[in-house]
Amino acid sequence: MSNIEVRPLGYAAGAEVLGLDLRKPLSSTEVDQVNAAWHQHLVLVFPGQDLTPPQLIEFTGKLGDIERNENVPYYRHPEYPEVLLVTNKQVNGKPSQTRNTGRNWHADLSYTDRPAKGSVLMCKEKPDVGGDTMFANMYMAYETLSPIMQKFVDGLEAVHDITLIKGFNRRDPAQVADLKAKNPPIVHPLVRVHPDTGRKSLFVSERVRNFVGMTEEESQPILDFLNMHATSPEFVYRHRWNLNDVVMWDNRCTLHIALKDFDQSQPRHMMRCSMLGEKSGYVLPDEHEEGSAKSALVAVS
Ligand code: SIN
Repeated sequence: MSNIEVRPLGYAAGAEVLGLDLRKPLSSTEVDQVNAAWHQHLVLVFPGQDLTPPQLIEFTGKLGDIERNENVPYYRHPEYPEVLLVTNKQVNGKPSQTRNTGRNWHADLSYTDRPAKGSVLMCKEKPDVGGDTMFANMYMAYETLSPIMQKFVDGLEAVHDITLIKGFNRRDPAQVADLKAKNPPIVHPLVRVHPDTGRKSLFVSERVRNFVGMTEEESQPILDFLNMHATSPEFVYRHRWNLNDVVMWDNRCTLHIALKDFDQSQPRHMMRCSMLGEKSGYVLPDEHEEGSAKSALVAVS
């Protein structure tokens, strides 16, 4: 018998899950309950969970296959490559390259051919105030478009580009070059059907450069509208972190952003473990031809 209690935290997304100790392996009933709550609330908060990296990996692995962060192999925990360190603390005596991770609206790893299924983020150290993360519901974003706009976006493919990560070009130049080589611009459908719920969601983000078959000039006003619409306050849950919160989000139907709303001299130290997504998308063969219909014809998967 399980004692899980699920308390909604927001209308668009977010629920607190009580009654679980994530240091212990979940039973199959508990996994089913967590999945059901996840599909309903999209973002789940598990307060008061002081997990070690192996425990974080074990919990994440109950909900999906583990992502090993090979596309971004620099910011991983030295002993546990499955764990990405999102931190503003110094790493090997140098400023952390992940101190500004997630500063524009995005879904994790959308610039790869396996956008993450979900991510689990744990708060190990936090500033006195701020350092919040916001999540937006992409089902609502799609469902609230007019039928004609839905029909229009249903047919579009979006070019996701790692260089549009905010502050990307200010990172270590050698890493930037390698990350660009590992992650060429990739095309994904703008509207995705969630494999578990069957609902359509908008797969837009601030890391989309243009739509296939359209120039950047043609795409930008549409992207501006869609990003603004998708992140409307009524679609958003804002999480104010407590120490040892574990927060898990569904990347297939949400966007998120990490806010720089805190005193940067104070530590914010998080551990993230992601779930491998389904293979999707294709690489544009030549960046100079981006936006051309021809460039969309070479699929790699
Ligand atoms: C991320 O974008 O995955 C990190 C979010 C955060 O640090 O709040």
